[in-house]
Amino acid sequence: MSKKVLVTGGAGYIGSHTVVELQEKNYDVVIVDNLSNSSIDSLDGIQAITGIRPAFEKFDLCDRERVYSFFKKNIDIAAVIHFAASKAVGESVENPLKYYRNNLVSLMNILENMEKFHISNLVFSSSCTVYGQAKELPVTENTPILPASSPYGNTKQVSEEIIRDTMDASDFNRAISLRYFNPIGAHPTALIGELPLGVPDNLVPFITQTGIGIRDKLRVFGDDYNTPDGSAIRDYLHVVDLAKAHVVAIERLLTDKNKANFEVFNLGTGNGVSVFEMIRSFEKVSGVKLNYEVAKRRPGDIEQIWADTTLANNELGWKTKSSLDEAVRTAWQWEKHYRSLNP
Ligand code: NAD
Ligand code: WQD
Repeated sequence: MSKKVLVTGGAGYIGSHTVVELQEKNYDVVIVDNLSNSSIDSLDGIQAITGIRPAFEKFDLCDRERVYSFFKKNIDIAAVIHFAASKAVGESVENPLKYYRNNLVSLMNILENMEKFHISNLVFSSSCTVYGQAKELPVTENTPILPASSPYGNTKQVSEEIIRDTMDASDFNRAISLRYFNPIGAHPTALIGELPLGVPDNLVPFITQTGIGIRDKLRVFGDDYNTPDGSAIRDYLHVVDLAKAHVVAIERLLTDKNKANFEVFNLGTGNGVSVFEMIRSFEKVSGVKLNYEVAKRRPGDIEQIWADTTLANNELGWKTKSSLDEAVRTAWQWEKHYRSLNP
């Protein structure tokens, strides 16, 4: 019989791609999402790709009573993947309480009910932001966590602590925290992808929106970093590779392969890519000359980071497959497809 997985935030960017991968592996998915940063249309995309429309409930995971009644109705859930969170770094600096409330209260409501209804398996969306500017690169899971540079980043650090303490409190509980580096790209069908509200903060959606003419030009935030070409370096991974890692993590928990009650894995490619290299990749795969200018560094940005992926490779048996160009090509195809339907 297929196992039932709750995917919170499953209408969002990474969640929707993960639902596709879960359904392709015959998991029975139920999504909870309040659509605060996503559209119900992503369910159409998931259905068109997999032939299955996942069960969906729209409510706010901060609503404790609502979360309780949801779990009470769904006691057959075998595992939870918790994506739902607010994720805009700049907004979190302006409105920290929104971030602490949304990201921490939703997590606690879920943990409380997982315990109550004896659901033991949790996969959590963490972030490389917990490392800040590490002294040594690449970063391993043992690289020291630095004081967070934003309330958003702090919610990921505190969430991991909350999960660790909850897992320690009972042998029955187990969780895997996945620290994503920079997810980019879209499903190769271009039926689901990243849909930032308003002006994108992230590099790749800003590039594709500039390429298609919605934005006038990309500003490259700093060309005076201590890197080979002066622009900042990140580890960009294809969202479909990232989605597949969640299925592997779920299978690890469901088949008792986990080696501790709380495990942490870095998910990246292991390669650093500069902003200028990203621009060149976009120009190559799209054939579009990108309008850009060099601007001042963005406050709060780190200079460079990329992942040591040894643990994920060896323990999860997971590795990214897509090249940078393949990932950027899917981001561009998604942008073109989406704008052709929503001019
Ligand atoms: P997203 O905004 O596309 O998806 C999050 C989803 O959660 C949205 O559909 C939103 O409507 C929903 N949501 C938010 N608060 C909710 C609540 N209280 N109740 C119900 N639903 C709620 O974001 P994403 O890029 O898919 O990110 C998913 C997770 O991965 C987040 O936890 C994010 O912090 C983390 N993460 C993202 C990145 C990235 O660059 N995209 C990197 C590292 C970690
Ligand atoms: C990448 C690079 C920018 C936009 C953020 C969050 C982090 C994580 C991933 C969730 C940087 C440069 C960008 C632009 C640019 N999210 N850039 N012009 O900052 O690595 O990480 O998303 O956990 O927490 O902070 O990603 O895509 O914003 O930027 O030059 O218009 O592109 O300076 O060097 P970042 P990003």
